[in-house]
Amino acid sequence: MTFHYFFVLVFLFSTTTGEPTADRNALLAFISQIPHSPRIRWSASTSTCDWVGVTCDANRTAVVSLRLPGAGLIGPIPASTLGSLSSLRVLSLRSNRLTGPVPQDLSNLAELHALYLQNNLFSGGFPPEVPRLTRLTRLDLSGNNFSGEIPFAINNLTRLTGLFLERNQFSGSLPSISNLGLNSFNVSYNSLNGSIPASLQKFPASSFAGNLQLCGGPLAPCVPFFPSPVPSPFPSPGPPSGKSSKKLSTKAIIGIAVAAGVVALLALILLLFCCWSARKRGRSAKGVPKPAATAAAAGRSGDMGATSSSKDDIVAAAAGEREKNRLVFVGSGGGYSFDLEDLLRASAEVLGKGSVGTSYKAVLEDGTTVVVKRLKDVGVPKRDFELSIESLGKVEHANLLPIRAYYFSKDEKLLVFDYIAAGSLSSNLHGSRGSGRTPLDWDHRMRIAFAAGRGLAYLHGVARVVHGNIKASNVLLRPDPDATALSDYGLAPLFGPGATPASRAAVGYRAPEVVETRRATFKSDVFSFGVLLLELLTGKAPNQASISGEEGIDLPRWVQSVVREEWTAEVFDVELMRYANIEEEMVQMLQIAMACVALVPDARPDMAEVVRMMEDVASNRGAASEGDEGLRASSDDPTKPASVGRSTSTP
Ligand SMILES: *[C@@H]1O[C@H](CO)[C@@H](O)[C@H](O)[C@H]1NC(C)=O
Ligand SMILES: *[C@@H]1O[C@H](CO)[C@@H](O)[C@H](O)[C@H]1NC(C)=O
Ligand SMILES: *[C@@H]1O[C@H](CO)[C@@H](O)[C@H](O)[C@H]1NC(C)=O
Ligand SMILES: *[C@@H]1O[C@H](CO)[C@@H](O)[C@H](O)[C@H]1NC(C)=O
Ligand SMILES: *[C@@H]1O[C@H](CO)[C@@H](O)[C@H](O)[C@H]1NC(C)=O
Repeated sequence: MTFHYFFVLVFLFSTTTGEPTADRNALLAFISQIPHSPRIRWSASTSTCDWVGVTCDANRTAVVSLRLPGAGLIGPIPASTLGSLSSLRVLSLRSNRLTGPVPQDLSNLAELHALYLQNNLFSGGFPPEVPRLTRLTRLDLSGNNFSGEIPFAINNLTRLTGLFLERNQFSGSLPSISNLGLNSFNVSYNSLNGSIPASLQKFPASSFAGNLQLCGGPLAPCVPFFPSPVPSPFPSPGPPSGKSSKKLSTKAIIGIAVAAGVVALLALILLLFCCWSARKRGRSAKGVPKPAATAAAAGRSGDMGATSSSKDDIVAAAAGEREKNRLVFVGSGGGYSFDLEDLLRASAEVLGKGSVGTSYKAVLEDGTTVVVKRLKDVGVPKRDFELSIESLGKVEHANLLPIRAYYFSKDEKLLVFDYIAAGSLSSNLHGSRGSGRTPLDWDHRMRIAFAAGRGLAYLHGVARVVHGNIKASNVLLRPDPDATALSDYGLAPLFGPGATPASRAAVGYRAPEVVETRRATFKSDVFSFGVLLLELLTGKAPNQASISGEEGIDLPRWVQSVVREEWTAEVFDVELMRYANIEEEMVQMLQIAMACVALVPDARPDMAEVVRMMEDVASNRGAASEGDEGLRASSDDPTKPASVGRSTSTP
């Protein structure tokens, strides 16, 4: 309707001097396409610079500010209008009823210092063009219907002093904003979650209020991700055991846990920043955030006025930092796609304090559940660590729990594994007997033994890796017992020569020679596997007295003594006694176990042999049942278990 009229105007004023012609056209196009209050009468007969809400520069050659607050503007900002005001320094459209996303061409406003869009009905994600307006000092998007995450790219706005995003629908976590000049900040009444980054903790609680899931800083403390485990009064390693912690009062435990958690959190905050910046940098293919931002993120804040050469240095350093603080997936990676930041934001629960460190069950925000093992006392340099884990990552076998990823920094070494819900053999075999627990029946135990044996044989034969830490708590059960998996293998080399595997291998499973040589070998693994078999047969836990304070026994010796004095079925787990016709198999398995725990390493079979022997036992299953013949036959010379075991293996 008014189109024709505007063309005339455009023509008229294009010949006028001292008039910002291009800007005038843009403004007319804008106002013609949007309903507005009659108060805004931009008359053709007056100079653009005298229009309501418009300010020009001193030469009257360009519009430098446009302020139309409460001007009854309704609907979306027409595209290709305001974006042409190339000299605009201030744009205020607050308190209207503007809708839709902010038009992309606003990114052309390279001179813009202040953008006030508050109290409208804008929606959509955080306007992606805003981070390109690098001269902005004030940005107010409050009181709209913006949603999605607040982008890390906001760090591009290095001159920002005021950022107002309150009363929107922003979600996700707050990016770390490392802008030292920022003195007004408000993100209250959104749907943000996660912890408040350290750089923003200087702002008052009212800047963050109304976000139900935001925590830390001026708000209530977050639950730390990797809560430090309750220190055990016993120094030695062992399977997860609630027993030791029961000796501390609940209050003391909470106190210690909270204090330790706070320390851990502080240490991790820095880490968090580094990867945050690293990740976002990695994601934006072209956009490189302002060096000062990354520098600050890397813990070198305060260098805002860096020269270009020192900026390069900082960028390089930050890139190195990113490289360093990466979560590295190994092998097939298990199809996971998350990064350290996701891991740190995960909710975590202590699974157990083991000999190599503490294990956590971490539930990521997308529901992915993994086990994070926080290694302690790693004694090798980064390169060696990486090589070890990379090669362990290549080991793939259904009965071995693969390492999925690792993280190495000066203060923190993490390994990531699949989470297996059914728990360990240790907890299934020994956990609260009798109280509603379904005992593992013989068939299950056999299949678990097989699976573990196959995994170990593969580890020894194909991968040429010494497990070094076989124990029931490292035997992880799946609903299908054939899929039972061994975990924690091959980690001994990570702890350097100072802390040898011997001091880490669980006491009751340790081969006698390892106590002296302090070196785990294939044969010492076989010994440990033998103890594991005895454990399955007897239902008794091997000697763990030094850690759990519990009465423990030297399983191999105990079994030998019982067997020597009088060959009875007494050694077997009472829970197995209810099943009929299994004695023969149990005896054969006992013989294999006894072969494995021979005192002299050379007398022990190797794992391939052990698996063969077990397969023989299984293949005879259901076949000729000779009653208690087996018991008697094998009772000849129980003190020489190795030979007994061998004889069973020969067909
Ligand atoms: C005004 O015009 C003169 C000459 O064209 C120029 O030197 C000066 O920078 C201009 N001032 C502004 C504020 O644009
Ligand atoms: C950051 O600002 C630069 C211009 O200084 C721009 O090219 C880049 O696209 C901006 N980054 C983002 C993510 O918007
Ligand atoms: C806000 O945006 C959501 C979608 O993002 C929409 O469903 C809702 O109606 C909007 N609310 C208002 C007041 O515009
Ligand atoms: C945080 O918000 C994001 C986005 O809404 C959501 O996907 C995630 O699950 C939330 N995280 C937590 C811990 O609530
Ligand atoms: C942030 O915004 C909320 C809601 O508008 C307001 O109540 C609060 O006082 C503001 N806080 C600061 C620090 O400006």
